[in-house]
Amino acid sequence: MNLKIAVLAGDGIGPEISAQGVDVMQAVCNKFGHSVSFTPALVGAAAIDAVGDPFPSETLRICQDSDAVLFSAVGDPKFDNDPSAKVRPEQGLLAMRKQLGLFANIRPVETFPCLLHNSPLRPDLVAGADFICIRELTGGMYFGEKFESDDRAYDTNAYTRPEIERILRVAFDYARRRRGHLTVVDKANVLASSRLWRKIAQEMAPQYPDVTTDYMYVDNAAMRMIQDPRFFDVMVTENTFGDILTDEGSVISGSMGLLPSASTGTGTPVFEPIHGSWPQAKGLNIANPLAQILSVAMLFEYFDLKAEGALIRQAVNASLDACVRTPEIQVEGGEKYGTKEVGEWIVRYINDAPLA
Ligand code: IPM
Ligand code: MG
Repeated sequence: MNLKIAVLAGDGIGPEISAQGVDVMQAVCNKFGHSVSFTPALVGAAAIDAVGDPFPSETLRICQDSDAVLFSAVGDPKFDNDPSAKVRPEQGLLAMRKQLGLFANIRPVETFPCLLHNSPLRPDLVAGADFICIRELTGGMYFGEKFESDDRAYDTNAYTRPEIERILRVAFDYARRRRGHLTVVDKANVLASSRLWRKIAQEMAPQYPDVTTDYMYVDNAAMRMIQDPRFFDVMVTENTFGDILTDEGSVISGSMGLLPSASTGTGTPVFEPIHGSWPQAKGLNIANPLAQILSVAMLFEYFDLKAEGALIRQAVNASLDACVRTPEIQVEGGEKYGTKEVGEWIVRYINDAPLA
């Protein structure tokens, strides 16, 4: 296969983890005889600093011209503490999602047995939890009509039937390929938009007789995720609820630095870690590159290159077993490995792996 990849490294630790993702992708392509080309493009604060726009049109063009986007992270504290800033790095991410039509955000929550002790939950509660949150990504409050004055402000949470149907279809299809259990998360006891979600989900459910569909209010779902995370298989929800619940999901596994995500829709798909730009760690070579590297696994799997994805997952597990780990997950007394050293170890593992 011939793959054209847009590389959007962004801010903070973004460039450091991006470099490891690129090297791993290159190694896997060499191994399996795929050709790949990487085109870097500006996004986030880096793009604001360079050209005054967090998602420049040149970046959009490069993304549109690629088969997939390998994205890292955006965000810079110099914008966070300035409510009057006219342009923010995060707008780059939202613009990218909208302009590439990425309406479905797929965030797996997986546990790694050797990291269970890092979970804020009791290991016996969280062991074996394995679910996917599917978040609607281009509608709802984040994109609805807004108003802002000194003494009044609002955001509107509007959803249309086609927007709801297409994301539910993605969710039902995932559930069918997994354990056949879909939880539709909403706030239908209060919100009109949620009632439309629920109504449409109930209309569609009979088309998926192999899927058990249940409905849960978002507050209850937030609770259930920490009480009984193994309950979930696939959950689907609107943009705002999904934003909140996926952060919760990312920490309960104890492996936030290991969780990748995919955003798909009508345009070029984007693969990125779920964690942010961690500006305090910028340039220190301490950020965990595994979520970025596992994003590359998701990328291959998206193109149905299963063996390629599996080799990356195997390499990541081997690195954890060998305690080749960045500081935040290293065992006591374990050797020190930086972002780069973990990436290099994984590349070597891939180079040396026998091909099945
Ligand atoms: C995420 C992030 C973004 C979001 C921010 C950075 C705009 O938190 O991908 O979850 O809220 O969508
Ligand atoms: Mg978020």
